[in-house]
Amino acid sequence: MRNGLRWVSAAMVLSALPFVSHAVESGVKVGFMLPYSGTYAALGSAITNAFKMAINENGGKLGGRDVVYYAVDDASDPSKAVSNANRLIKRDDVDVIVGTVHSGVAVALAKVAKESGTLLIVPNAGANEVTGVMCAPNIFRTSFSNWQTSYAMGNVVAGHKHKKVVTVTWKYAGGIQQIEGFKESFEKSGGEIIKEMYVPFPNVEFQSFLTEIAGLKPDAVYVFFAGGGAVKFVKDYAAAGLKGKIPLYSPGFLTDGTLEAQGTDADGILTTLHYADGLNTPRDNAFRAAYARDFKMEPDVYAVQGYDAAQLLIAGAKATRGDMSKKSAVIAAMESATIDSPRGAFTISKAHNPVQDIYLRKVEGGHNTVVGVAAKALEDPAPGCKM
Ligand code: BEZ
Repeated sequence: MRNGLRWVSAAMVLSALPFVSHAVESGVKVGFMLPYSGTYAALGSAITNAFKMAINENGGKLGGRDVVYYAVDDASDPSKAVSNANRLIKRDDVDVIVGTVHSGVAVALAKVAKESGTLLIVPNAGANEVTGVMCAPNIFRTSFSNWQTSYAMGNVVAGHKHKKVVTVTWKYAGGIQQIEGFKESFEKSGGEIIKEMYVPFPNVEFQSFLTEIAGLKPDAVYVFFAGGGAVKFVKDYAAAGLKGKIPLYSPGFLTDGTLEAQGTDADGILTTLHYADGLNTPRDNAFRAAYARDFKMEPDVYAVQGYDAAQLLIAGAKATRGDMSKKSAVIAAMESATIDSPRGAFTISKAHNPVQDIYLRKVEGGHNTVVGVAAKALEDPAPGCKM
């Protein structure tokens, strides 16, 4: 399965049987380029599961046509991103790519999509440039920009009278841009970043950083980690004796999809994100019940983003009755869609990024419960986007 090529073939054969020729000729071809191995593997699975769940809720169709799935494991490896994208585009001739999670991989993927004109829906990676300087009519995102999720937290931390903060993240575009977003609003509110720490991606050896933090004694710590690395960081932070002494803040990726493994070590952590547990709206309750029924686990933000990638594509395909060759009509329908998301309804900005509320959440009893709205209808400024 870790060999993308072989796995794609197997998936295609399984999906196409027993109507091989019909499905391949007239079905809509969806290519997943996501991590199914490595520290972000669970994120890729949640996106895939929920995307397929939304399609199944739509009668298993896009614009009335069958859906044929292809998949490649990008392993969050930017160096293989171009060849992985080209497998889906050139070999499998997909109509749309749904990918990916890792910002560095996403930038390379977006470049290929922009050059080839292939429709791309980004269901996680927050790389600012994807809906900024690289924006294009055929590129959409149903998740967030790195700026959006962290910018919302600067005012919150400053409002808690924390003046001196240490930041820690993996050293790659995702982490760097999250820290920049936080820094922008925190410094505007009078705060000071006294030290920025960077860990090579995807290393999880945090001990020396935690020892340094203990010595620096900041008012608070702001971090970006997700997936397996987030579990390890929260557990190590508590084991180092910092929990309860130096408040830990983060965008919500630190505690989403990870709480079961983090246990009580995560209690009390405040995060900002465009989703939360217990929103208790009819839409979210229905989504959560269906996901739990189908996959025997609670959904997380990644599942929501995958679900909404399918909802956006459903809106586009509906406009052309599944004829994906009518690209401008598909794109126009996607641009004007209001997505009835489990997170709350959202629209798509001119740069094709969600305009959405960012919740302030607190970990309580194994859930990311809503404390309030940190930023209402926040739109990424999309610097450099010309469309
Ligand atoms: C990113 O690389 O953009 C990213 C990865 C995991 C969670 C959030 C953002």
